Amino acid sequence: MKIGLISDLHTDVTLFNKALVPHLIEAVKTAEFDVFVLAGDLARHLVQLSETLNAFHLADLTCQKLFVPGNHDIWATETTDVTSELKCEIISKLCHECGFHPLMEAPFIKEGIGFCGTIGWYDYSFAPDGYDFSDAEYAEKTLMGAVWNDKRYAKWSDTDCAIARRFQVDLETQIATVRNDVSRIIVVTHHVPGVYPIPW
Ligand SMILES: [Fe+2]
Repeated sequence: MKIGLISDLHTDVTLFNKALVPHLIEAVKTAEFDVFVLAGDLARHLVQLSETLNAFHLADLTCQKLFVPGNHDIWATETTDVTSELKCEIISKLCHECGFHPLMEAPFIKEGIGFCGTIGWYDYSFAPDGYDFSDAEYAEKTLMGAVWNDKRYAKWSDTDCAIARRFQVDLETQIATVRNDVSRIIVVTHHVPGVYPIPW
């Protein structure tokens, strides 16, 4: 099976990023992938995100298309009441409309290979040992006046650690669901999952 994967197109950051999309689609066609995965960070706004998904949809690619969101995709900026959980739901619907299988929603099996996926999240456990910051300081996402933008725009209903754990449990459930039906499992995440033991 031939699998292609890319992430972080960030089509809303520069015009060059957006201009790459048709070239990428041509490259995917030429490569004749069986499965093509977009692993998050297409765009922060739903309009640009759906435009990009739709560009792949309109290209009539013969491969199966899979998607997991990234942290920029779930930034909740459209209205004051939108949450990151709601954006995940909306993105899944957009995926269905554009011929992408949203891996956050359910695993996918093709030819004995199981694809499981989640955005994942961070619990600070991958911080370098040399840094003397507490978890509370990491949670502030602010240093010397600089702000990590997930602080401003990621609007989850719980703490980073709880969200990371939630998505890891989701991933473990997906893996448990498919493991007896497949010979191999491929996991797609945007963030590296936490360091909790995974019973594989
Ligand atoms: Fe990202």
